[in-house]
Amino acid sequence: MKKILVVGSSGQIGTELVIELRKLFGNESVVASDIKETNLNNGPFEVLDIMDNEALKYVVSKHQIKEIYLLAALLSATAEKNPDFAWRLNMEGLFNVLNLAKDGVIEKVFWPSSIAVFGPSTPKINTPQFTIMEPSTVYGISKLAGERWCEYYANKFGVDVRSIRYPGLISYTSLPGGGTTDYAVDIFYSAKKGENYSCFLKQDTPLPMMYMEDAIRATIDLMESDSSNVKIRSSYNISGISFTPAEIYASIKKRKPEFSIEYAPDFRQQIADSWPGSIDDSRAREDWGWHPKFDLDQMVDIMLDNVMV
Ligand code: NAD
Ligand code: SER
Repeated sequence: MKKILVVGSSGQIGTELVIELRKLFGNESVVASDIKETNLNNGPFEVLDIMDNEALKYVVSKHQIKEIYLLAALLSATAEKNPDFAWRLNMEGLFNVLNLAKDGVIEKVFWPSSIAVFGPSTPKINTPQFTIMEPSTVYGISKLAGERWCEYYANKFGVDVRSIRYPGLISYTSLPGGGTTDYAVDIFYSAKKGENYSCFLKQDTPLPMMYMEDAIRATIDLMESDSSNVKIRSSYNISGISFTPAEIYASIKKRKPEFSIEYAPDFRQQIADSWPGSIDDSRAREDWGWHPKFDLDQMVDIMLDNVMV
């Protein structure tokens, strides 16, 4: 049975990815790791700082790890507040993992990119897989650089690295970690508490989003796909649901007529304005059979039923 390491497992994606990987491959086969403690107690966990290369090598050797899902990063809004550190964390972690694959210690790597690789000069509607990419955030710059390095390691050293440009992810199990799309999770907490929501983006700002279950399925499908199907080694566009704050508010209000919202855009508006409104994911559909399952109303129903306040 292959052994998998998830780095950054206590975060929004890691929490749900570990649960799903353990269902598929067995609790003992999936080692969770993070600098933060875990609330997943059904399998092995290591405290690990991905920037500590020796500690990473130790954990990989101790558990005879063959695959790594590298999720540790600073997200867009947090990264703008600490650009030097964000660049170091987002790049050093990736190099530490890619080099383990280059040296033949591990066999496969998953590393997520983001819609943040696109910038103000990118076509905004149905953004193509291959297009102008001039990101204007430190987060987007680090993700675009990461994509180029993934493709370089794949072409030059035969590293089996796979990647998805996640849109904003919406989930109720674990809170988001400091992104520009976080409003689309925060809004449910206010709705459930019966409070007015103050949105940090303008009402007419469209962004690509996705319900977490779709994102986890995409991730595992890509990783389990035959290598010959993975023709893009930078990162795949995938698309779920695109909406504006006004549209998600309207969908929640259908179920909670008393819910109110106000718009108070802050520094995150500029980040959102630089990103696409919708994504063309035809290459992911053609190459490894991607298709999303959840639409806006289904996602809103699930979130309102499950968010705990
Ligand atoms: P998150 O902030 O919720 O989780 C990141 C986790 O990494 C945290 O638990 C944190 O403690 C951990 N971490 C931070 N520094 C670490 C270090 N030095 N060593 C080990 N662990 C460390 O982020 P997330 O939303 O789960 O995102 C995971 C990945 O997916 C990131 O690369 C992010 O850029 C990417 N992504 C996320 C989204 C989204 O909407 N959530 C969208 C696009 C891309
Ligand atoms: N959800 C992420 C962010 O807003 C997109 O990468 O930073």
